[in-house]
Amino acid sequence: MTALSTPNADRTTALEAAEAAGRVDEAFLARFDAQFPRLHALFTQLYGDRPDGSEQLAATVAAASASWNARPLDLKVRDGQRTADPEWFQSERMLGGVCYVDRYAGNLAGIRDQIPYFRELGLTYLHLMPLFDAPDGDNDGGYAVSSYRRVNPSLGTMAQLAELAAELRLAGISLVLDFIFNHTSSEHEWAQKAVAGDAEYEDFYLIFPDRQMPDAYEQTTREIFPDDHPGSFVQLADGRWIWSTFYHYQWDLNYANPAVFRAMAGEMLFLANQGVEVLRMDAVAFIWKRLGTACESLPEAHLLLQAFNAVLAMAAPGMIFKSEAIVHPDEVVSYISPDECELSYNPLQMALTWEALATRDGRMLQQALDRRHALPAGTAWVNYVRSHDDIGWTFADEDAAELGIDGYRHRQFLNRFYTGRHEGSFARGVAFQENPATGDARVAGTTASLAGVEAQDAGGEDRVVLAHALALSTGGVPLLYLGDEVAQLNDYSYADDPVRRGDSRWVHRGNRPRDRYAQRDDPSTPAGRVYRRMTKLISVRQSTPEFAGNELIPFHTPHPSVVGYQRPGAASRVLVLANVGDTEVSIDPLTLSGFERAAFDLVHTNDVDLDDGLALPPHGFVWLRVTPV
Ligand code: GLC
Repeated sequence: MTALSTPNADRTTALEAAEAAGRVDEAFLARFDAQFPRLHALFTQLYGDRPDGSEQLAATVAAASASWNARPLDLKVRDGQRTADPEWFQSERMLGGVCYVDRYAGNLAGIRDQIPYFRELGLTYLHLMPLFDAPDGDNDGGYAVSSYRRVNPSLGTMAQLAELAAELRLAGISLVLDFIFNHTSSEHEWAQKAVAGDAEYEDFYLIFPDRQMPDAYEQTTREIFPDDHPGSFVQLADGRWIWSTFYHYQWDLNYANPAVFRAMAGEMLFLANQGVEVLRMDAVAFIWKRLGTACESLPEAHLLLQAFNAVLAMAAPGMIFKSEAIVHPDEVVSYISPDECELSYNPLQMALTWEALATRDGRMLQQALDRRHALPAGTAWVNYVRSHDDIGWTFADEDAAELGIDGYRHRQFLNRFYTGRHEGSFARGVAFQENPATGDARVAGTTASLAGVEAQDAGGEDRVVLAHALALSTGGVPLLYLGDEVAQLNDYSYADDPVRRGDSRWVHRGNRPRDRYAQRDDPSTPAGRVYRRMTKLISVRQSTPEFAGNELIPFHTPHPSVVGYQRPGAASRVLVLANVGDTEVSIDPLTLSGFERAAFDLVHTNDVDLDDGLALPPHGFVWLRVTPV
């Protein structure tokens, strides 16, 4: 075993390992030289005291070089295009979609058949939910992975996936897949070897002989899935305890062991060569543990992501990462940088959109746009209305307090509101992971059901469209949960399914709603009306260069129910005003006097005279092209 040494010595060791594994071509060598110093520095911080640091680093580099050699030519061409235009994802033409392969289309062949529809909709990015081999029955919707190299046989094969990626690419759609690297399923080969007592693989997980260490860690860790098991550990059949942040069959990997980094980097490189363009880095906050801390968002979590980023930059330079951190907003942004994750979900804007619709008060959302929207150059938000997961109220209590709002009580209110327990609520959601010990809960439900369409509230369809109008106009990559564009409703049948009954998120993961898609051109139906309005917004966004990038200039009105911002372009701006309230708001000419009086309504395609002021209907919005005076 060799420990880490100087950058020069370790560079030589790494190059020798790469050469032993095959030819090291010039293109790789150039990227190796650019990335190795930072990878070495990261390894030194993470693994400086491990006896095998240098050899694991060398093995990682050798795997990267071999992966580059094996990389199909069309992907190398794509790498070239992406590195020549590294901000490709900032385009106003970007539109993401997300779906489960089985629920939306049966299998990979079914997804392929949907490509014409994806084009009709304008997708440029398709996130297929986890499709890997996973335990039969309960597997957290595929987030318990038994092999990263095998597609779940019920969905298809890895070869089919690679073909699908190529076809999507030809259709202008980038394939996005999860990289579920915090944990494996208990059926993964490594997990099985660990359970069997293979010392090499025991060190891949965090296994303790008794409760002493688990008890000590649990002093400060949070319960993520309290319905499944208390605390962060589960007991193995032999009496030992293993770290398991999520479900009891998802075992956290031990990243303090450099062999785990090397092994997972290998799985990442394998996926890279199947044609994935964006990896969604699952559960990033949890990947490093330290006694006496919450074991969330520790500095080492960032170092690890940067190290994966450096490996990818050597072997698949066109690919990028999307961070999935659904935590305090200060922590969410800490993962976003061109050296770490170029993209990130924007859980704050998502949650506060729902907060604003419930309270009919846009001030928390406005405050978040004012102060928490800006990002480093070369990075972008993924803005969404809802995902496959629950909605958690991740706003900062200190932000709420500035507006006189008590965070704890406000979350309680929002949970009551969205689970329909608050009198007069338009929402039909279901509680997820309600924890009686802490009073904590999250909310599950489709956009249409949460917004009032299911309850047949008069504002339901407007709220669906309004929520998307925000996500489509604040910049970055807007991401649509497929089915929401036809106002898909909750599917309560999960409660009768023994495998799914315990996880209420299945309420918003229904099958592709064929009936609603069939009605999408029929304006006498909710599906048809929502689809027509949504596709209009999508096409306006595509032809509005001001919507590219992330820059956003706040715009304040005297009305608490109105959220406002400007998206600057080269010569003009788009002013967005959204009324989350149930009553019409009149914006007076003085408020609009910073712009020339002649404006243009991009959605309704008509001229607007700002000297007349503006009337915003209940749950209404405008996208106005304006010129500052
Ligand atoms: C992420 C996924 C979620 C899953 C968890 C564990 O948060 O979005 O669905 O349960 O990771 O993998």
